[in-house]
Amino acid sequence: MSRIFITGSTDGLGLAAARTLIREGHEVVLHARSRERAAAIAETSAAALGLVIGDLASAEQTRSIAEQVNAIGRMDAVIHNAGIYLERSRGETPEGHAKTLAVNTLAPYLLTAWITRPDRLIYLTSGMHRSGGSALDDIDWKKRPWSASQAYSESKLYIATLSAAIARHWPDVLSNAVDPGWVPTKMGGAGAPDDLEMGHLTQTWLATSEDEAAKVSGGYWYHRQQRQAAAEVNDVRFQDALVERLAGLTGVRLFPQGG
Ligand SMILES: NC(=O)c1ccc[n+]([C@@H]2O[C@H](COP(=O)([O-])OP(=O)(O)OC[C@H]3O[C@@H](n4cnc5c(N)ncnc54)[C@H](OP(=O)(O)O)[C@@H]3O)[C@@H](O)[C@H]2O)c1
Repeated sequence: MSRIFITGSTDGLGLAAARTLIREGHEVVLHARSRERAAAIAETSAAALGLVIGDLASAEQTRSIAEQVNAIGRMDAVIHNAGIYLERSRGETPEGHAKTLAVNTLAPYLLTAWITRPDRLIYLTSGMHRSGGSALDDIDWKKRPWSASQAYSESKLYIATLSAAIARHWPDVLSNAVDPGWVPTKMGGAGAPDDLEMGHLTQTWLATSEDEAAKVSGGYWYHRQQRQAAAEVNDVRFQDALVERLAGLTGVRLFPQGG
């Protein structure tokens, strides 16, 4: 039995993963952005080990989420699943960041730094990461006119790259990125062509399986198969430049400087 924390487990892939893991007999810690959203999953949370609350758009609330998780105990795995897609505008988080960057990249970065290090880390990315591009000078959208789709693609490139950087820096942790496919959730829309089942079973498998195939690090996955990620993801110079930018934006350093 494993103990797994899943961000964004009130809906979609996160909720599906939570229900599957609970059914398999694992201890699951759920996460909701608010008490109201927690109330929507009362039945699932009754069968879970715990539930933590906080809005990932806020660094302060993200800190509180990490503290709530650490108070429950050390996790065997964390699935960084929560995400947002096409935002109408850049938005402004309490720390002044673009909301898409904050929720999809900065929050999982901070949680990775603040939650007691688990054995396995899984980050939800997207095939759209391939449109992210390698420019890092305006990752917080302070200069460019807003493009919701480009911001999403970039945030998913950054999280896939962070996953690969963690695999390189932390050899004692299995760190992997998962593209769930285009699946019918609130985010994907009712007409999404991919399978919701296959969309979440890669995460649950990577989080818990003792199969040798699941015990690898630095992978980019789609439907339990490793795929080639965009070239930037495994480019060490891009990884280093990105983690420097993330350290600069958050004031939190994940790896020793120059390491
Ligand atoms: N669906 C797809 O086709 C697709 C494709 C590629 C990648 N993905 C990725 O897969 C992951 C899960 O997507 P999904 O389709 O399951 O999306 P979803 O149905 O919209 O669910 C997203 C989850 O994240 C939570 N969340 C969003 N913003 C939050 C915030 N600021 N604070 C706390 N929680 C927040 C949501 O909470 P609420 O319920 O309160 O909104 C919800 O539980 C995402 O990272 C997404 O980028 C999805």
